[in-house]
Amino acid sequence: MNIEALKRQAAARALEEVRDGMKLGLGTGSTAKHFVDLLGEKVRAGLNVVGVPTSEATRIQAEQCGVPLTTLDEVDRLDLTVDGADEIDSALNLIKGGGGALLREKIVAAASDRMIVIADDSKWVDVLGRFPLPVELVPFGLAATRRAMAGAFAETGNSGQMVLRKDKDGHAFVTDGGHWIVDAQLGRISDAPRLAGLLTSIPGVAEHGLFIGLASLAVLAGSQGIRVIER
Ligand code: A5P
Repeated sequence: MNIEALKRQAAARALEEVRDGMKLGLGTGSTAKHFVDLLGEKVRAGLNVVGVPTSEATRIQAEQCGVPLTTLDEVDRLDLTVDGADEIDSALNLIKGGGGALLREKIVAAASDRMIVIADDSKWVDVLGRFPLPVELVPFGLAATRRAMAGAFAETGNSGQMVLRKDKDGHAFVTDGGHWIVDAQLGRISDAPRLAGLLTSIPGVAEHGLFIGLASLAVLAGSQGIRVIER
């Protein structure tokens, strides 16, 4: 089965958790896109939900699919967020941000009672870090922020190159929040929860792609079928 079919299967399984009247966080990326697409079909068939998109790309897609949208200023908590991930470990800690939407993704996940992460099973890892860790930075003081990040890596026994993400024209990639992204090639992240805390405390770090303790369920689709892992 091709990878898009696996992503769609994971999205379809997550859709089973959606109930009428729910307020939903809508993730970003190619797997979340399948979820929004399938959700749109349900909405057009009469399902009553509202969604908060985690990126401009998802907002546009959701509008096209007919999913009613709201914002975190208009609703208090969300019932459920469904989103993809770049890596998932057995504690359901995640690396996210490959698509550059990590800041809004984390705000929305943190405002949700539950987060379900959906993926094909290639995203399942023993130790986070093979996927470069995205860190979203305020452009001002970039070099100072990078030095502080290197200090956080050293303090947690991590090391690796930091690469400023570029767009297709070779300019710094700009996030929906107007920030830049540095991808840290750490290979294996020792003590992800501690590194997450240290990165959060650095002025100039708008957000980082370590999602610790946010996902409560993972739906992984592979050639052998679907695995549902609860934390
Ligand atoms: C977007 O910023 C990311 O966090 C995505 O959710 C993540 O990269 C997974 O994307 P895919 O589903 O496209 O692999």
